[in-house]
Amino acid sequence: MSSSLDRKSQAWSALFSEPVDALVQRYTASVGFDKRLAPFDIQGSLAHARMLGARGIIPAQDLGDIERGMAQVLEEIEQGRFDWKLELEDVHLNIEARLTQLIGDAGKRLHTGRSRNDQVATDIRLWLRDAVDRIQAALRALRLALVELAERHADTLMPGFTHLQVAQPVTFGHHVLAYVEMFGRDAERLADARRRINRLPLGAAALAGTSYPLDRAMVARELGFDELCQNSLDAVSDRDFAIEFNSAAALIMVHVSRLSEELVLWMSQAFGFIRLPDRYCTGSSIMPQKKNPDVPELARGKSARVIGHLNALLVLMKGQPLAYNKDNQEDKEPLFDTADTVLDTLTLFADMMAGIEVDAQAMQRSALRGYATATDLADYLVKKGLPFRDAHEAVAHAVRECVQSGRDLGELPLSELQRLHPAVQADVAEVLRLEGSVASRDLVGGTAPAQVRAQVRRLRAELQQ
Ligand code: ARG
Repeated sequence: MSSSLDRKSQAWSALFSEPVDALVQRYTASVGFDKRLAPFDIQGSLAHARMLGARGIIPAQDLGDIERGMAQVLEEIEQGRFDWKLELEDVHLNIEARLTQLIGDAGKRLHTGRSRNDQVATDIRLWLRDAVDRIQAALRALRLALVELAERHADTLMPGFTHLQVAQPVTFGHHVLAYVEMFGRDAERLADARRRINRLPLGAAALAGTSYPLDRAMVARELGFDELCQNSLDAVSDRDFAIEFNSAAALIMVHVSRLSEELVLWMSQAFGFIRLPDRYCTGSSIMPQKKNPDVPELARGKSARVIGHLNALLVLMKGQPLAYNKDNQEDKEPLFDTADTVLDTLTLFADMMAGIEVDAQAMQRSALRGYATATDLADYLVKKGLPFRDAHEAVAHAVRECVQSGRDLGELPLSELQRLHPAVQADVAEVLRLEGSVASRDLVGGTAPAQVRAQVRRLRAELQQ
């Protein structure tokens, strides 16, 4: 395949005797997707240039020119006027070329003591740190919306399930707070990953460090990095920080996916527990009665790609010898897509969950249908002196009779209940009520409305700090 591309426009032209093949150029270029790193690339370059100036590695005049030139480049990019060139391969070379066009030789001095290898590693860390901060804000908003929903429904009764069979009554508030816990651990994981993201690679240069007397600590301070990467080979080659992020993101999407699955079930006519705001649903082109929960369904679907990206990044890394390899260019698209997907999903869910309508009666009816207080009856018998296994057996018989006669446990007359054990008294009625059942689970982590309210207070204080 031939090409008329001009070597002179490339950064490493002198050694080559023929132009790069056109398909090779398209295959190896990353500018199509890495241009979104531009603001961070410029931020990194300015910090590097200021340090070069402070160290006397470039003259003050050059630094002034670089600052002025970069301001224009940034403006052109922000206004969509920047002419991105495929033959300049990536975001770094495009920006440097334009800078040099604008300010001449000073532009060519910017890359002193630096390589694209430590440059790109720095850019990704800056970009990812920003993405993590946005995702943290969205997570917090979602958790607050869920806490408020839980507070409104601290007393709302619903069936709790195991094996998707009615198990014991719970409060809807308690159920919702389970997700607040999951998303809370997600926030912890992101915060932990951020500590390792926030380290400076610049100074590693291509792989071995540089002979220029750089002040790495100054660059780190300027860019808000907490620490320096301590080994140049490691600094330019590993992307474990990105994998950690994607892993935390995959767990977020797993949690969102489980919530989505419940929303889809709850919205089905068979459950009828909730309604999603209309702006989150779509209709069917053929069935006029349909209102489909598209957003939760898609979120459940999009979890697949985020989980897939985690796998892609792990496999991308595993075969690479030290130090930098071009393979690493493949880290960006999965990473970008993961961050975009998670951020959009969380943002939508915060608003959607604030707007869901709950049919408390439907939830309660459903809990009443499933003998949800059978365990409470067994516990009552235990408190009257029956060994738990015997109580379990006795209640199983009672449930069986109820199933045959189409009644609920609460509908059995006292005389029949007393056949289970002579010590059964009228106070058994309270135990068989859903309200009595949930109220009795009044220990930390339990479903009692009082516990839900206590958790809401704790979480509110945590989230409003
Ligand atoms: N576009 C490259 C990347 O994303 C930048 C680093 C290229 N370095 C190199 N030696 N070719 O990884």
